[in-house]
Amino acid sequence: MKTLILISLLVVTISALPSTRNNRIWNGENATPGQAPYLIGILWYEFATTIQPLNICGGAIVNVWWTITAAHCLINNLTGIGRFEIVVGQHFVSIANRSGREQFRNIAVEFIHPNFAGGASAYDVALMRLDAPLAPFNEFVQPIALQAQSAPPLQSGTVRSFGWGSVTGGPPHVLADELQTVQLPIMSSELCREVLSTILPSNPFSSSCMCTVRFENSGNVCNADSGGPAVANLNGQNVLVGVLAWGTSCTLSGFPTVWSAIGPVRTWIDQTIQANS
Ligand SMILES: *[C@@H]1O[C@H](CO)[C@@H](O)[C@H](O)[C@H]1NC(C)=O
Ligand SMILES: *[C@@H]1O[C@H](CO)[C@@H](O)[C@H](O)[C@H]1NC(C)=O
Repeated sequence: MKTLILISLLVVTISALPSTRNNRIWNGENATPGQAPYLIGILWYEFATTIQPLNICGGAIVNVWWTITAAHCLINNLTGIGRFEIVVGQHFVSIANRSGREQFRNIAVEFIHPNFAGGASAYDVALMRLDAPLAPFNEFVQPIALQAQSAPPLQSGTVRSFGWGSVTGGPPHVLADELQTVQLPIMSSELCREVLSTILPSNPFSSSCMCTVRFENSGNVCNADSGGPAVANLNGQNVLVGVLAWGTSCTLSGFPTVWSAIGPVRTWIDQTIQANS
């Protein structure tokens, strides 16, 4: 029970409706090992004696020392009741299914974007410096290029995301053991703002947000996929263009999912890393 409460504290602020499908990321597909070598998992060990952690959020590798995620994944100081750990090279969360390619690190210091207001809001992005550098980089562990400084949020095309979040799409949320992936169409900021204003009374959309929807009959990101990457193929290169912030529904067509776009916070990312390395 305590576990469920924790998940609901840490995951995206989503009011998901029960779904009739019982599938992946939600309704995505199994990733192949090494498909997202830049992906991190944020593991939560509830007690000192916990052996099997929960993967409560995702994120991405920036360089050997630094990883990026959503601010709301870290905002509650839960140090007193358990501990976080960062994993890279992970495909299955269950320790019984580990491949031996995983690398585990602790968070040495975390930096929440100064404009993050908490809850479903803009600038839901955070940087984590690890307690030891990731090594080696290989087929399963790699950094990802970041969207260029001041590049606006993408307005069209598709992105791919990955995560171990809810496969049920609504309560009771069941988290994935094997990494899931889904492709998502980008929704223009203009349309997103318009749709959100009809769904949410206080619309926290800002110009630093990027929006996606789901393809009809396809999947979507869901609870505990938070912090996970939106990856676009730009000129043949995988580029991190967003981290998962919040959504309005995992399962309903036309309901936007909101990402913290990387371009608008790239200066903050570069300056924070430079000043604290
Ligand atoms: C978090 O809580 C722990 C103990 O509960 C405390 O030692 C630590 O300083 C806190 N960290 C922050 C960033 O507030
Ligand atoms: C390990 O992975 C297999 C294959 O996906 C799955 O059937 C099994 O439930 C997993 N084990 C655990 C402990 O989750």
